[in-house]
Amino acid sequence: MLKKIMLVVLATVLLLAAIESLTAQQRPQRRGFRSRPDRDMPAAQEQPPIPANEQERKILSVLEDMDQNQRRGMMNVPVEDARLLRLLTEAVSAKHVVEIGTSNGYSGIWFCLALRTTGGRLTTYEIDAGRASLARKNFKRAGVDKLVTLVEGDAHKEITKLKEQIDIVFIDADKEGYPDYLNKLLPLVRPGGLILAHNISLRGRQSGIQDYVKAVTTNPDLETIFYERGGGISVTLKKR
Ligand SMILES: C[S@@+](CC[C@H](N)C(=O)[O-])C[C@H]1O[C@@H](n2cnc3c(N)ncnc32)[C@H](O)[C@@H]1O
Repeated sequence: MLKKIMLVVLATVLLLAAIESLTAQQRPQRRGFRSRPDRDMPAAQEQPPIPANEQERKILSVLEDMDQNQRRGMMNVPVEDARLLRLLTEAVSAKHVVEIGTSNGYSGIWFCLALRTTGGRLTTYEIDAGRASLARKNFKRAGVDKLVTLVEGDAHKEITKLKEQIDIVFIDADKEGYPDYLNKLLPLVRPGGLILAHNISLRGRQSGIQDYVKAVTTNPDLETIFYERGGGISVTLKKR
């Protein structure tokens, strides 16, 4: 009887060891500093933005409403990317931000959150009349419409009329057009200014984005890093 019990225990132990060895092979490997817990930690520690005053509270509540109720068909940047746009705008004390691809104004309102503080303004371009009209309403209800010039039309053509210096360019429209937007706007960006491009994580699939990435990573006057969370943003510093 004792021998039988011992055999059953031994068989169970061997079976459990075999299952553990099989599942261990299927578990993702964690390598050095790049393991998931390290990468996930900052995101887990993030908290929603804390409004500094009543106006910021109002703007953030409009953004929250757009996030919850207007995203469908608007192709808005994810919240974490939008927060990066706001932070960079304040960090370089931007006075003039140029955005290609307004949609309903979601990313534009995040820029305005920063531009209220820096005393700057936004010029934003949208080809679709319906989205442009919705953006105008959203800028108004967020109380930032006075900071915004919305140009309705094809940005490839319209941006050639720009003459003023730019602190930040944000490219978030037709992917094939990214190199053209860069070529046309780079001369207006001040030294120390930034060129940001969205959906850069699509670079393997879209030739426009591949060409854009090549252009911003091979020019000695530029320094580019890639922020791969959210939709993927390239951040390019114009050094001189
Ligand atoms: C990804 S959405 C922009 C999202 C917006 N930046 C946001 O996060 O709220 C891209 C927008 O670019 C617009 N667009 C595409 N081609 C354009 C062009 N040639 N000129 C101006 N706008 C264009 C589209 O109509 C669309 O609304």
